[in-house]
Amino acid sequence: MKTIAILTGAGVSAESGLSTFRDNNGLWCNHRVEDVATPEAFALNPKLVQDFYNMRRAQLKEVRPNSAHLALAKFVAAQKHKVFLITQNVDNLHEQADKAIGNSAQDNPYYTLIHMHGELRKARCSVSDEVFEWDDDITTETRCSCCNLPGRLRPHIVWFGEMPLHMDLIYHALRDCDLFISIGTSGNVYPAAGFVQEVRMNGKGHTVELNMEPSSGHNIFAEKLYGPATQVVPKYLAKIAA
Ligand code: OAD
Repeated sequence: MKTIAILTGAGVSAESGLSTFRDNNGLWCNHRVEDVATPEAFALNPKLVQDFYNMRRAQLKEVRPNSAHLALAKFVAAQKHKVFLITQNVDNLHEQADKAIGNSAQDNPYYTLIHMHGELRKARCSVSDEVFEWDDDITTETRCSCCNLPGRLRPHIVWFGEMPLHMDLIYHALRDCDLFISIGTSGNVYPAAGFVQEVRMNGKGHTVELNMEPSSGHNIFAEKLYGPATQVVPKYLAKIAA
């Protein structure tokens, strides 16, 4: 049994119909990061920020996992390897795929799923930091479930300038893994962009990039396979499943 750390980014969800950030017509082409994805933006214009995440949360009711998410879920469910899946994505397509395959992070001792940039389907009290499951829109009038006051709930999303979640666990997995696979990420945003370097400098794992095109850090990976995630992910996982 190998220990495998997998990092996913927006490219794994692109063929499900969710926009990436930096491709043509990506989310950051149509919105300025500093208007919708910083604590300062939320303080200045909470409605604009909530509307941006409300729109993205609502999309989750319509999108379905693609064959890359499903291949990952099947790979994990087989329990032949220990998988530490780190996603930068705030969508729930890995969870949807797990559900479709009958895989569950709670019942599978060889599977950990971490949303390092938070989750659209959760909200957080900005005073107590308590986190709630959240499927609906949040408005400036929505009352927080813990303090019952309006204006305190924020999306459970890591904004620019904030610390990504569960970094201790992630660095431990990167140093410990036999194989690190990076899927559908452009390698522009740290700390995730530095994970491959961490494995190479402080770990022992073989490093593989599966992406539509070479990422910013492509030179650091030992092995690369380029193409749509729905093709390259099932193909690569089939190769290593045995
Ligand atoms: P990007 O939009 O920066 O990069 C997406 C990558 O996916 C690009 O390298 C594309 O070539 C690739 N791609 C596009 N379609 C693909 C497909 N069908 N199959 C395979 N690859 C495909 O998205 P991320 O790298 O995920 O953070 O962005 C990282 C972070 O930047 C996000 O988590 C978000 C953003 O700002 C926060 O909001 C904190």
